[in-house]
Amino acid sequence: MKLNTIYQGNCEDLFKKVKDKSVDLIFLDPPYFLQLNKQLTRPNHSVVKGVEEEWDKFNDYKEYDLFTNNYLKECKRVLKDDGTLWVVGSYHNIYRIGSILQNLDYWILNDVIWSKKNPLPNFRGTRLTNAHETLLWCSKSKESKYKFNYHALKTANEDKQERSIWEFPICSGKERLKNKENKTAHPTQKPLSLMKKIITQCSSESDVLLEPFAGTGSFCAAAKYLGRNFIGFDQNKEYVELATKRIKKIKQIDASVLEPLEKDTPKKKIPFGNLVHEGYLEPGEILYNIKDTHRATIQSDGSIRIDDKRGSIHQIAALVNKTTSFNGWDYWHYKNKDKKLESIDVLRNKLRD
Ligand SMILES: C[S@@+](CC[C@H](N)C(=O)[O-])C[C@H]1O[C@@H](n2cnc3c(N)ncnc32)[C@H](O)[C@@H]1O
Repeated sequence: MKLNTIYQGNCEDLFKKVKDKSVDLIFLDPPYFLQLNKQLTRPNHSVVKGVEEEWDKFNDYKEYDLFTNNYLKECKRVLKDDGTLWVVGSYHNIYRIGSILQNLDYWILNDVIWSKKNPLPNFRGTRLTNAHETLLWCSKSKESKYKFNYHALKTANEDKQERSIWEFPICSGKERLKNKENKTAHPTQKPLSLMKKIITQCSSESDVLLEPFAGTGSFCAAAKYLGRNFIGFDQNKEYVELATKRIKKIKQIDASVLEPLEKDTPKKKIPFGNLVHEGYLEPGEILYNIKDTHRATIQSDGSIRIDDKRGSIHQIAALVNKTTSFNGWDYWHYKNKDKKLESIDVLRNKLRD
C-alpha cells in the first residue's frame, strides 16, 4: 500500500492490503452509533445537524460490536509490537470499544478527556450539556515498549507533567470544510489541534500513521504537517476527494523544527561486554566504586569478579551493596589515562557515539 494516500473503500477490505506490523500509530474515529431518532431543533426552530449519515447506522449493539471487533483485530495485526492506538468516542460507544480492546489484549495506557471549549448546548434542557469526548490510548500489549515523548509534553506544558484532561474547541470557522453546496462537509470533523497533540505525544518524524475512518482526513493532515507518513481509509468517495484535496494544500513544517528533545530519544542499548570486546576496557583491569571501597576485576567474557563472586556489573554492584538490584553503570568506575576515576558510563557514551 502506497504511503501518504487516502484510499476509498470499506476498511475491512483495505486493511487486508496493509502489511503485518508495519504501522507505528493508529488513530480511530469510528462511527458513534448515536441512534438519533428525532430531529433536534434550536429554540429558534432551526435544525441542528447531528450525525444522521448512513455510516453511523447499525441494527443493534451486536452488529456494532462485531464491526468494532473486526477492525480492532486488524489494527492489532498491522501495528508494530511497540506501536500504539488511539480511539475517540462518546458515551454512546466508548465503553463498548474499551471492553473489546481489553478482550483483544490491548493495554489501555490512559483515557483522555477532550473537554470541548465550545460544546453544543443541550437544546431541550433534558440532560447535562455533553461537553467532552473520551479518547483511549492503548499499546498493542502489556509488554510493548511504546513511544511516549514525555519531556516534549512537559516542556510544552510549562514544565508541568501533562495531565489527561485536554481542552480544545470543536472544529469550526475556517478549519471546518465545506462541500460543493457550501454546507458543512462532514458532521464530525475533528480539530487539528487535538490531532497534532496526539501525534506529538507518541510518534516521531517519518513514522507510519494510519487513520482507518478518515472522513476529512484530519489526522492525516496533521501527520503530513508534522513530517510523518500517513495512510487513510474512508468508504465515502466525496470525503476521500475532499480529504485528498485538503492534504495536498498542507505544507510540511521545516525538518529543523521537528527534532525531538534529546531526553525523549531512546538510547541505544550497549552491553558492558561490548566495552571489553571493543577494547575500551581490558580483561584484568580493575573497576572501583567512587569511594574506592570495592574493587572488581574485569574478566575476558565481560563479567566482573570480587574474590570468588562473579557476575554482571549489576549483580556484583548489588552484592556489595547488599541489595537485590543495582545499576552497575552508575556504580563502577575505571582509571582513565590521568589515573583519575571516571564512570564507565562515559565509555558507554563514547561507544554509542
Ligand atoms: C466519525 S467519522 C470520522 C471523521 C474524521 N475523524 C474527520 O476528522 O473528518 C467516521 C468516518 O468513518 C467512515 N466509515 C464508516 N464506516 C466505514 C467503513 N466500514 N470503512 C471505511 N470507512 C468507514 C465514514 O464515512 C466517516 O467519514
